[in-house]
Amino acid sequence: MKIDPVTIPLDKLTPVLKKDLDKNLCVCNEVLKKDIINAIVNGASKVAEIKTQTYATMGTGCCTQQVEQLIECLCSAEMEK
Ligand code: FES
Repeated sequence: MKIDPVTIPLDKLTPVLKKDLDKNLCVCNEVLKKDIINAIVNGASKVAEIKTQTYATMGTGCCTQQVEQLIECLCSAEMEK
């Protein structure tokens, strides 16, 4: 099931997670936050999956925690539907 990132329940994200969607979440590999959100919405539920799909966290791994937070927020949002 493909969901457009615009239609995902962004209101489930905390204000911190919601901002800067057009900025790099992974600065090491220049991966946009919205690309990571998109991968999660399209089924990636583990950091490893995000890694293979977007290359985020493949640098020094410094954004891993942020990716985990996004997965946590978005996956629980998905389950509530
Ligand atoms: S910012 Fe993503 S690995 Fe460093």
